Formats: sequence, C-alpha cells, structure tokens
Amino acid sequence: MYFTDTHAHLYASQFKTDRHDMLMRSVEAGVQRHYLPNIDRESIEGMLELEEKYPTHCFATMGLHPCSVGKDFEKDLYDIEAWLSKRTFKAIGEMGTDLHWDKTYFEQQKEAFKIQAGWAKKYKIPLIIHCRKSTYETIALLKELQDGTLRGIFHCFGGSLEEAQEIIKLGFLMGIGGVVTYKNAGLKEVLPQIDIQHLVLETDAPYLTPEPHRGKRNESSYIPLIAQKIADFKQIPLEEVKQKTTENALRLFEND
Ligand code: NI
Repeated sequence: MYFTDTHAHLYASQFKTDRHDMLMRSVEAGVQRHYLPNIDRESIEGMLELEEKYPTHCFATMGLHPCSVGKDFEKDLYDIEAWLSKRTFKAIGEMGTDLHWDKTYFEQQKEAFKIQAGWAKKYKIPLIIHCRKSTYETIALLKELQDGTLRGIFHCFGGSLEEAQEIIKLGFLMGIGGVVTYKNAGLKEVLPQIDIQHLVLETDAPYLTPEPHRGKRNESSYIPLIAQKIADFKQIPLEEVKQKTTENALRLFEND
C-alpha cells in the first residue's frame, strides 16, 4: 500500500525550480497519489499542466478558495464552473470559509460556499473544505445544505473532539496535516478518540510544514512524518495508518 496526499498545492511557484525532483522525492517516499486543490482563476493553468504531465500521480480539483472570494466572486465562480462542464474533476475545492485573515467578504464566502456545494451535488463529487477560525460557522452551513449526498474533507483539521464528532455526523472526513507534529496541537488528545476510518493525510504543501522541517517549504515527501505522528498518538502501526487513510481517500475521490 502507498500513501495519499489529499491536499497539496504542488503547482505553486515555490516549486518552480525543482518541481519534478520534489514530486519524485514524494513518490520515492511512498506517496503515489497527490490531489491538487485549486485556489482561483490564476492557479488553474499550472495545476492542469502538472496533472497532464504526471497523470498517475497528480489529480486536479476545481473550486474557489474562500480567501480569493472578493467583490467579483460571482464572475470568478462563473469562469470556474465553465471548467466543470468541460471535463471531470476529482472534487470541488478548495472552498470554504475563513475568518482569520479578512472578514470583509464573509457573507460572500458563505454564498460561494452554497453555490459550490450545489456543484458537488450536481457532479456527484466531494468537497474539499477550508475553514479557519470558522469551524462552527462552516459546520452550521453544511448542516443546512446536507441532504445526504454531500461528502468530503475538512482540510487541515485541528479542532476539538466535539467538532470532530459533528463532522463525522455530517459524513465528512478530516484531513490531518503538519500541525499534528507541532507541540500543543491538541490533536494528541483528540486523535485517539477518532476512528481512523474518518481520517485522511495531507500536507497543504508548500504551507504548514511538519516538524522537524518547520519554517521551511513543505512538500509531499513529508507525508510519512505526519502518518507516523498519527500512528504514535493512536498507538497503531504506521502501516495501518498508511493503508486505512489511502483506502479512505480512494473511497472518497474514486468511489473505490
Ligand atoms: Ni490548501
């Protein structure tokens, strides 16, 4: 069995000089599949190029990131939706809400969330949800929209056990990334109480670098560091984390 990185922005400019080597390091580390969440209109071209070049390792998703939701968000959504009618994508995302950076467009973020959840229903593909300082609001929004067909990932989960239980009740998975390796992350107490069937691995590369590389650029080859930390906290073998999280990802993205 291999690892799956369910969230990696490998098309980012941070990888401009060594993209091929970086990806091969990841494959070498046992990470066979990388799901690439889109950000906005500007990221599409690079994302699709990467997918075309590495069709067995890289898989594109399509959506508008909440931090890219501004006053012209309807126009952006219109252009992004055009892509969905052109070809298939593995998921809708990265979408969601964010109250950490700029609260100006929170109403628009919620509107964009509803529209993109509608796409997920229409195309029968999962959501990749970003929420930062807005987990409560996002769960409430999703409860309103959940008709039994929505599924997906709460990416970069770092919340409480109560939040985890709400997410599980909604039928969603939690993406565990580099934050799990940080001291005082809180996941040490929460993870032992969450069944591995609700978890997937992710890096969010080039961001959120796990220890001991924190402070440097993140890349998908660090996925085993994240998996090992989960294995330690849950006191289960690394191989089990690898196998179960990949099975969860395949079930979600590939209906496998
Ligand atoms: Ni992301």
